[in-house]
Amino acid sequence: MKQDMIVILDLGSTENTVLARRIRDLGVYSEIHPHDITVEELKALDNVKGIILNGGENRIVDGSAVEVRPELYELEYPMISVDYPGSRCETQLQEQPDEEALRAFVFEICKAEANWNMKNFIEDQVELIRRQVGDSKVLLALSGGVDSSVVAALLIKAIGQQLVCVHVNHGLMRKNESESVIQVFRDQLHANLIYVDASERFLGKLENVADPEQKRKIIGSEFIRVFEEEARKLEGIEFLGQGTIYPDIIESGTKTAKMVKSHHNVGGLPADLQFKLVEPLKQLFKDEVRACGVELGLPHSMVYRQPFPGPGLGVRCLGAITRDRLEAVRESDAILREEFEKAGLDKKVWQYFTVVPDFKSVGVKNNARCFDYMVIIRAINTIDAMSATIERIDWDVLQRITERILAEVPNVNRVCYDMSPKPPATIEFE
Ligand code: XMP
Repeated sequence: MKQDMIVILDLGSTENTVLARRIRDLGVYSEIHPHDITVEELKALDNVKGIILNGGENRIVDGSAVEVRPELYELEYPMISVDYPGSRCETQLQEQPDEEALRAFVFEICKAEANWNMKNFIEDQVELIRRQVGDSKVLLALSGGVDSSVVAALLIKAIGQQLVCVHVNHGLMRKNESESVIQVFRDQLHANLIYVDASERFLGKLENVADPEQKRKIIGSEFIRVFEEEARKLEGIEFLGQGTIYPDIIESGTKTAKMVKSHHNVGGLPADLQFKLVEPLKQLFKDEVRACGVELGLPHSMVYRQPFPGPGLGVRCLGAITRDRLEAVRESDAILREEFEKAGLDKKVWQYFTVVPDFKSVGVKNNARCFDYMVIIRAINTIDAMSATIERIDWDVLQRITERILAEVPNVNRVCYDMSPKPPATIEFE
């Protein structure tokens, strides 16, 4: 292995992630592991240079305090404890180490080298993936989102044609999105890519369904069904690749940390389709995933793209989806993205998109009355998507976008700008 590692054992601290980030910022790789890690598990992690027993307010679980296994103290690794009575550690801190203390532990006591970078990470993961997968095949649902794209590129580097990517176009993708997935992965990276155009099937199932939750459920379960059908056609698949990243694991709760929300990627596959998981990004934070994608040669537009909900444009074509309104969402979204990019707003605004409600309003076109749809523009900034503020967009930019939408998008006679923060509004409309 290329990289030295400092292991943080989670003994109930709320600062595990922050500490891991601080160590990685020093150029040394760090991973967080459960308090009850065994000696064998610890030894299996290559290149461990030191251990931090990280205690804290969540140490009491079900009425008793969690402890590390005593055998761990017999090992040769340098250890410090933080807010934890590590009886046998050289240094016992009451609170999180300051910069000086952290540097001293990492570099002087553990003698770790600052060799954590994406190049080394990728080399290590390639080796680990090859070791794990052997001659078998890995199946991956490639949506074209940041995480699945980066995991695909990494798996292609590691195992080439042993990776089978399935891209399901549910008909609710943005303009040219599926085409760009095919272009990057099939044409540039020569991936073994199965493209499934399931647009008609999804739109058929969604016909006349107006309830937002119902729409989401149909899109989610139909996706699993299509993916499952493709999986059943393939032979020799033993593994499922997943773009799980570190925050997904944290949010799903560790033994000592409370669960924020349950995490699932391609969850819900039938029990007889049991795969072993390959999750090479599971220790990375989002910005590190992007850096990994850049290092693997993925286009900037793919790696830095804004978040896009799984149900896609389906939740932006409000109410029961119709083809004319879906087209209006897709075309207006493309214009908005183009103009935001030209104005440099794509780097300033966290998420921006258009929405088309399911009602018409009266207007006038070519001296005649028209009865057409409305496009609503939404542009928000946020840190964690839990709350959001609206972006103050330059008037000229808004005017240009409005003019283009009215001129270029059929069946639209009105453009509005959503001024609502979250709360009380959510970012999406459905
Ligand atoms: P809301 O509308 O809840 O959105 O304020 C918060 C963030 O989550 C995104 N979002 C989704 N992402 N699947 C996803 O992967 C979904 O079903 C989904 N719904 C909302 C939304 O775009 C925003 O960034």
